[in-house]
Amino acid sequence: MTKTILITGGTGLIGQRLTELLLAQKGYSIRYLSRSKRSIKNVEVFEWHPQKGEIDAAAFEGVDVVVHLAGAGVADKRWTESRKEEILKSRTQSTELIAQTIRKMSTAPKALVNASAIGYYGINTGDQLLHEESPAGNDFLAEVTSKWENATKEIEEQGIRTVKIRVGVVLSPQSGALPKLLQPVRLGLGAPLGSGDQYMSWIHIDDIARIFMKALADETMRGAYNGVAPAPVTNAEMTKRLASVVHRPAFLPNVPAFMLKMMLGEMASIVLEGNKVSCDKIVRAGFEFEHPGLTEALKDLLGKH
Ligand SMILES: NC(=O)c1ccc[n+]([C@@H]2O[C@H](COP(=O)([O-])OP(=O)(O)OC[C@H]3O[C@@H](n4cnc5c(N)ncnc54)[C@H](OP(=O)(O)O)[C@@H]3O)[C@@H](O)[C@H]2O)c1
Repeated sequence: MTKTILITGGTGLIGQRLTELLLAQKGYSIRYLSRSKRSIKNVEVFEWHPQKGEIDAAAFEGVDVVVHLAGAGVADKRWTESRKEEILKSRTQSTELIAQTIRKMSTAPKALVNASAIGYYGINTGDQLLHEESPAGNDFLAEVTSKWENATKEIEEQGIRTVKIRVGVVLSPQSGALPKLLQPVRLGLGAPLGSGDQYMSWIHIDDIARIFMKALADETMRGAYNGVAPAPVTNAEMTKRLASVVHRPAFLPNVPAFMLKMMLGEMASIVLEGNKVSCDKIVRAGFEFEHPGLTEALKDLLGKH
């Protein structure tokens, strides 16, 4: 029987790949909730404006699973106070709006798969391996993810199976971290950022999309799962491997932290800090990575482009 999946922020990096994989697998009908009504092949698009409390409730009729990915891009703009508020509220208010909409329905969806981020664990965790039960941090991104996860409780309390995927640094040639890391490396200007010792818990775009697929289909999954590959590396190691895959040198001294702070402001913490996150729980749930190793993952991603 066909399952109907409603994806918020389906137009984004993870949502697009998740959609392709679900459609390829057959047996899924896909809907999006988007801030703009647009025409997308094989997808039924409904409109919402979460910050204004506006939503087309018809989007939820007959839906089996809601996948909530929408949120203002964390690394898109400098973190002014108003941008920080948008980053937070685009996630919490949208989740609250989903909860309110579902509450009014006679037949609610069976499950919610909500994005979260490994930023949950906070910065300054060094090389400590972080598991799902590790405590939340107290910097800005940790606060955003904690509040986002807390907002899903209102949906869980309605008896809906709720899964939170704490997404790592997604590697894709299309957008996100990889094109930004690659730009200086291709020019032969690749260098570790700050100390270079900060961990990057990365994941190949196909594997994160497959984790979301598993979470929406596997009725035994509940609660938080880290969405990272088995082998996190330091920023210095990532730079070295990238340079080697694209056959460029990487001998320059580290980019000093103060320069990045001057350029990026508080947002510099995204590149200067990181954490080492475990994938044990998702593996125990039966997930098998297609791209567990960094060098192979980079070759796969960059070979296609
Ligand atoms: N990619 C990563 O490395 C990574 C890492 C950790 C966590 N995550 C989290 O995982 C989720 C999906 O990631 P992604 O990389 O696919 O995100 P993305 O490419 O930035 O797409 C997110 C989507 O959210 C919607 N959106 C943007 N701004 C919004 C706003 N102000 N209010 C409401 N909706 C808004 C947009 O859809 P419409 O234009 O159609 O409305 C957009 O396509 C995000 O919440 C992200 O924070 C991603």
